[in-house]
Amino acid sequence: MTKPISGFSKLTKEEKIDWVTENFTQNAAQSKKILQTYWNQDKIVQQLHDEFIENTITNLYVPQGIAPNFLINDTLYAIPMAIEESSVIAAASKAAKFWLKRGGFKSEILGTEKVGQVHFIFKGDTKKLESFFTYLKPVLLAESASLTTSMEKRGGGIKDIVLKDKTHELDHYFQLHATFETKDAMGANFINSCLEQFATTLKKEAAHYDAFSTPEKDVEIVMSILSNYVPNCTVRAEVSCPAEDLKLSAELTPQHTAEKIIQAIKIAQVEPYRAVTHNKGIMNGIDAVVLATGNDFRAIEAGVHAYACRNGRYSSLTHAEIENGIFKFWIELPLALGTVGGLTNLHPLVKLNLEMLQRPSAQELMQIVAVAGLAQNFAAVSSLVTTGIQKGHMKMHLLNILNQLGANENEKAILVEHFKTNPVTHHGVEIQLSTIRK
Ligand code: MEV
Repeated sequence: MTKPISGFSKLTKEEKIDWVTENFTQNAAQSKKILQTYWNQDKIVQQLHDEFIENTITNLYVPQGIAPNFLINDTLYAIPMAIEESSVIAAASKAAKFWLKRGGFKSEILGTEKVGQVHFIFKGDTKKLESFFTYLKPVLLAESASLTTSMEKRGGGIKDIVLKDKTHELDHYFQLHATFETKDAMGANFINSCLEQFATTLKKEAAHYDAFSTPEKDVEIVMSILSNYVPNCTVRAEVSCPAEDLKLSAELTPQHTAEKIIQAIKIAQVEPYRAVTHNKGIMNGIDAVVLATGNDFRAIEAGVHAYACRNGRYSSLTHAEIENGIFKFWIELPLALGTVGGLTNLHPLVKLNLEMLQRPSAQELMQIVAVAGLAQNFAAVSSLVTTGIQKGHMKMHLLNILNQLGANENEKAILVEHFKTNPVTHHGVEIQLSTIRK
């Protein structure tokens, strides 16, 4: 059995690769070759990637595509999307094209407030803690002033700090619950620096607060960290058209299609098993743009799913209705995104993607991302209630199957043609490939 290793991070990249390929792969030479295939040929670019994280051995490629024709608030966008799932960009593009002819997407920011908390333990009189907080709040702001100067110049900063008594949920547990405006930055570093300063100030001031007894002076800071739950950093995106425009299948009338879409959304609103898949489809669009623009998709995922169950049951992020013959379809969700700082200024491709999006502000990016999610959901649900998704999905997946089966370019061309009029299944592709090989 391979022994654990100490000091791995101090090895050179080559030594790390030797160790992992020799100990954990069947064919070290071949494994090394695969890892090297994914190195960037430009040494400077590769070094940049090496330094993003620790113990880098290679890069994992995800294809990036473009979904064109997105008209959002009367501006036309070509949206870069980084995703491995075959049908996502095709679906987004199809939805974009459909809505382009119907006035496009309208989107608005509902709020931009970020949140951070200092979680602490106070064993004492809550009334005294409340009086202490009245004294403390201006001190917290004063002692974090050096951290907030440049954010304030950009129009952001600390919005408020409140004391929260959480002792009904956990013995002796209190919070400093702070809200922030971080303008075009996602703001994680800014928020966390402020919070750590708040914690230091809280601890120091409590130790010297005369009204506290000796045990009360000993406030224990548990942790200081931003929250990825941002229910007041939200965006809404919407499309609408006459219901009679929803001519999406030969089998259903437009009115029937609209009603089935609304029924599908209602199901996702009341049935968590469906809601999770429904929202997963939305996240196909959201994550792909979030990733392409160098934002933290795990933070977005966590915040969005928490928002989806804010009313006590996990539910759909999208909504639909018909009013006076007009079909309206919309999404509302939290998105804490940045267009400055982090990878956005560092990763050459991320920079280019932001340029393609016309260098959006964080608020514009929130709108674009929300639209990508809405478009994705429209494409998925309208397929689900008409033809089903497998037809389109398997068509897109055909090239993956052919690649898996080792088809050459000529075989691929023949079979792509064949499957334009035949249902795609893995087995069916296998049979057709062996037939043409005979
Ligand atoms: C697949 O990645 C996403 C869908 O399942 C979404 C949905 O069911 O709404 C098609």
